[in-house]
Amino acid sequence: MILLDGKKVSNDIKNEITEEVKKMKAKGEKVPHLAAIIVGNDGASLTYVASKVKACERVGFESTMIRMSNTTSEIELLDKIEELNLNDEIDGFIIQLPLPKQIDTQKVLMAVDPDKDVDGFHPMNFGKMALDMSTFIPATPFGILELLDRYNVETKGKHTVVIGRSHIVGRPMSILMGRKGFPGNSTVTITHSHTKNITQITSQADIIISALGVPNFLKAEMVKDDVVIIDVGITRVADESSPKGYVITGDVDFENVSKKASFITPVPGGVGPMTIAMLLKNTLLARELRHK
Ligand code: GUN
Repeated sequence: MILLDGKKVSNDIKNEITEEVKKMKAKGEKVPHLAAIIVGNDGASLTYVASKVKACERVGFESTMIRMSNTTSEIELLDKIEELNLNDEIDGFIIQLPLPKQIDTQKVLMAVDPDKDVDGFHPMNFGKMALDMSTFIPATPFGILELLDRYNVETKGKHTVVIGRSHIVGRPMSILMGRKGFPGNSTVTITHSHTKNITQITSQADIIISALGVPNFLKAEMVKDDVVIIDVGITRVADESSPKGYVITGDVDFENVSKKASFITPVPGGVGPMTIAMLLKNTLLARELRHK
């Protein structure tokens, strides 16, 4: 079994980006600037955004975090987005999801300038991705592709099963794994809450990408020998013995599934750090595109 070490690979990517930033500085160019909007006080979302800001500092990017209250109206958020769209200092920005109930997420994502949409969530960028056009690929799927690429995991002709159809991970992942090229050329099955007899499907999978958010959902009996496992789950499970009062738990019963797997991502330290590294990569791309 080979561990797909997202912590190490994301560090390599951050080092590569740091070198790019140094070159920009040496040429007297402005460094990339990422902004993140966070609405409300969700603990996990605040932690993720703080990690994104910290990662910016680490590679030499500028960053701006914009906090808005839980009672923010849709109009107020749309105004803030327009401000960032027009602000020439900002190369790319994200709106951390989920948003409070009073806000229509799709409407908000459609208000982002597609050239600054480093999350790749705008329908124009999502459409471009589906049509194999060059664009911002959503950071988590992008990170998974990068892991498969750097570990040379064969995907051509393999049966890839995606668990979950979220707009952020499952849906784009199912498109990307079926695209021409590497990683890609897989035969893809996408499963979700209405899928019947999921074990029958997962037990035929060469590659399983689980983005369900149910701790320890995928058991050893549900997979075949030598399966490749990508665990996108990051659920906080209460644990009084841990200093934070919770532990981050993946969708996969790692202890038992890892005994059968050829490659597997750990949680934490697998897909999570890759998401942040690829957001930085998209921000670098946004910076380059805007100053071409
Ligand atoms: N919430 C969970 N994952 C993500 C992500 O990749 N981007 C944003 N903006 N919000 C998220």
